Amino acid sequence: MTAIHQRPVRGLTTLLVPLLTGGLVVLALGVYGRAHTPTGFAVGVAGFSAALPMKVWLTTGAFVLAFVQVVSALSMWGKLGIDIPAGVHRWSGRIAFLLTIPVAFHCLYALGLQYDVPRVLAHSLLGCFFYGVFTAKMLALPKRDAPGWTLPVLGGLAFTALVGLWLTSSFWFFTAIGFKV
Ligand code: HEM
Repeated sequence: MTAIHQRPVRGLTTLLVPLLTGGLVVLALGVYGRAHTPTGFAVGVAGFSAALPMKVWLTTGAFVLAFVQVVSALSMWGKLGIDIPAGVHRWSGRIAFLLTIPVAFHCLYALGLQYDVPRVLAHSLLGCFFYGVFTAKMLALPKRDAPGWTLPVLGGLAFTALVGLWLTSSFWFFTAIGFKV
């Protein structure tokens, strides 16, 4: 088998560890979300009336930054015709991810993985999937011989999961309860 035929195979095996680790993260969050007894624990955060509005607005911040991610990624791949510095993509990604941490901590620790309502089931599964695909993307990033579609696909899945998380939580809150702070 000539070198040219070996590259796709090697590229895919390069992804084995990132994809397996991402899958383990999804599984671990799901099992923890179901296995532990929800504590109902809630932290008050300055500026917000309660944990719920805090989560809703932090998630909305991550949601907006996710669009900055997509636009800056398209620019990095020369699809936009405008040159947005790569640092914009890196930092909007880091801040978006960090904004989700206190939210997901509250979701998992205080509420757990719930599936009595289709919206909440979809939300809970998307939450676990988001961290799994984010982990796989970060582990695949330094892999120079990974297939060319790796980052667009993993980045696209992370974006779609975050949009789904926002629609099944913040958007529901804004339409069911209102723009409460
Ligand atoms: C990691 C797995 C996750 C699980 C198991 C989970 C589970 C839950 C559950 C059960 C609720 C209560 C839903 C309700 O009764 O209305 C909830 C609420 C919420 N979650 Fe999560 N979540 C997860 C991750 C996330 C992430 C990553 C975000 C944001 C990026 C998020 C944002 C929210 C918000 C804003 C609410 C409050 C609005 C609402 O009640 O729907 N969650 N979550």
